[in-house]
Amino acid sequence: MIVEESVSLSTLTTLKVGGIARYVCTVTTLADVLEAVAFASELRLPFRVIGGGSNVLANDEGYEGVLIRMNIEHISYEPYAAGIAVTAGAGVAWDALVADVANQSLWGLENLAGIPGTVGAAPVQNIGAYGAEISTTFVSATVVDTERGEVQTYTKEDCEFGYRDSIFKHNRNLILCEVTFLLSKEPHPQLGYSDVAQLVRDGVDMTTPLRIGEEVRRVRAKKFPDLSLEGTAGSFFKNPIVTEKQFAQLAEKYGAIPSFPATHGIKIPLAFILDRVLNLKGYKNTNGTVSLFGNQPLVVVASTGATANTIDMFANEIEKKVFDATGIVIEREVQKI
Ligand code: EPU
Repeated sequence: MIVEESVSLSTLTTLKVGGIARYVCTVTTLADVLEAVAFASELRLPFRVIGGGSNVLANDEGYEGVLIRMNIEHISYEPYAAGIAVTAGAGVAWDALVADVANQSLWGLENLAGIPGTVGAAPVQNIGAYGAEISTTFVSATVVDTERGEVQTYTKEDCEFGYRDSIFKHNRNLILCEVTFLLSKEPHPQLGYSDVAQLVRDGVDMTTPLRIGEEVRRVRAKKFPDLSLEGTAGSFFKNPIVTEKQFAQLAEKYGAIPSFPATHGIKIPLAFILDRVLNLKGYKNTNGTVSLFGNQPLVVVASTGATANTIDMFANEIEKKVFDATGIVIEREVQKI
């Protein structure tokens, strides 16, 4: 375990804002994780785990605790049930895993290509894109339960997956160390989501996980700002789930709205509301440091000079605009540190 003191959160997160973290413990093994938790406990400081920092809004006051930087990195394969189980350390970059399984011609993760972050962060918010969610292929995870001081195996049922949700989002005492997915050697293309369906109609070759992954990365690249130039955390808000009545009222007022069935209602794209109802594509705050991305308004862009506070105020303003226009209360996908 490597311990660093006074590290700027802006260097650990893709929104590139935030104050100083008192300690950062970089962990590469399960034993390191236990050591880092003990370190925090000895100092009577709280801890949080951080992966790629790509879904995090780190506050300007910093973090007076121990940040555990997850760096457990390994990938292994073994036959399991009707397919192949791939097990990856929580610190493996998510897209590196997607590329690795695609190189082995294994199906199941290809629609999730190009998502930033790490394997350990993926179950926390049950990452999803282009009609796929990791809960579908997820088998189990090795978890350190810091309250009980035990290493446990969490099955899919234990994880309580929902839309951008899981038990790990609510119980920060559970540290994901390794995740296993069940993949298929047989073709299982999921090409129904609008963007990928369009590629199929255009005659693009989408016959292998490798090809689908490449195309998905290309589609995604257009919808996100260049991280080398600006800060972003991808979708800043969740798509709202509305009642049938709310949906009917919105559809009557604003015409055909794309919709997806959800467990308790209908999920609609917030990007549609921000764009077509509120006309907020590219909308900026007063000093121009925070904006909604021009190509995908669900994506908040933090430019030079942005702070956690300005992003927070900007998000409040967007939340209010959406509520005033539609009566919908939106939730943030991004997690605070
Ligand atoms: N739309 C507009 N105007 C726009 C962009 C989109 O009206 O400028 C409407 C269109 O009707 C479009 C719909 O919104 O069909 C959906 O847009 P998109 O396909 O870009 O997806 P999204 O619902 O905005 C979700 C995820 C993304 C994921 C994409 C692709 C959430 C919060 N976001 O966005 O996930 O990549 O679908 O599957 O569920 C993330 O979570 O960080 C993330 C990027």
